[in-house]
Amino acid sequence: MRLDVFTLIPDAFEWIQRRRPLAAVLGDELELRVLNYRDTTPLSAGQVDDEPYGGGPGMVLRVDVVAAALDATYGGSPSHRVVALSPQGRQLDQELVEELARESALTLLSARFEGFDQRILDHLCSDLVSIGPYVLSGGEIPALVLVDAIARRLPGALTEGSGEVESFSAALDGGLEYPHYTRPASYRGWDVPEILLSGDHGRIETWRRDRVRTVT
Ligand SMILES: C[S@@+](CC[C@H](N)C(=O)[O-])C[C@H]1O[C@@H](n2cnc3c(N)ncnc32)[C@H](O)[C@@H]1O
Repeated sequence: MRLDVFTLIPDAFEWIQRRRPLAAVLGDELELRVLNYRDTTPLSAGQVDDEPYGGGPGMVLRVDVVAAALDATYGGSPSHRVVALSPQGRQLDQELVEELARESALTLLSARFEGFDQRILDHLCSDLVSIGPYVLSGGEIPALVLVDAIARRLPGALTEGSGEVESFSAALDGGLEYPHYTRPASYRGWDVPEILLSGDHGRIETWRRDRVRTVT
């Protein structure tokens, strides 16, 4: 997958590229580019936003700035999906992550302050995605959430099989995963369930299945 993220804070995306699962797929299953609107803005002094028409607080990311960034990168509107991160978008869930992870190319647009000029959302994007019903200060954290969630679904990102049986996965019928325990078997009188120490894989499997919880 080719994944492009447009942002005003490119260094927000540095640490994640040095860590698994992203580090495991970068340059192989995933080509990640982090692009700064300021590098291609047609305005002077790196300007990217402006005051809202009609008045009010905050600054709004300009449509000509985002169009210029897309033009400079793709030579026009890209044919693949362009996702704007916005609290007003479709709420992210595992189903949408799986859907986006199947794309061969994807662009993420983030904004700050008051957000996007509406014409960006109407004419330059294919999707609006929210990471939850709350407002963050910028689209960088939402973009990081998407980058991580997508990267771990790409081949080679995780140890074989470890991404298949997880909360929200088809393997658990979309439910929440069963509990995990590790050593020590007993700590402060808090004991690991006996069955997990039994070595009886059939009973362990049944015990785990019984503890998968339905998402309400
Ligand atoms: C302060 S927010 C703008 C909020 C906007 N004025 C509103 O009331 O809907 C600035 C930017 O952060 C990002 N953002 C904030 N919360 C988000 C969320 N829950 N999901 C996705 N992006 C979010 C978006 O890119 C947004 O344009």
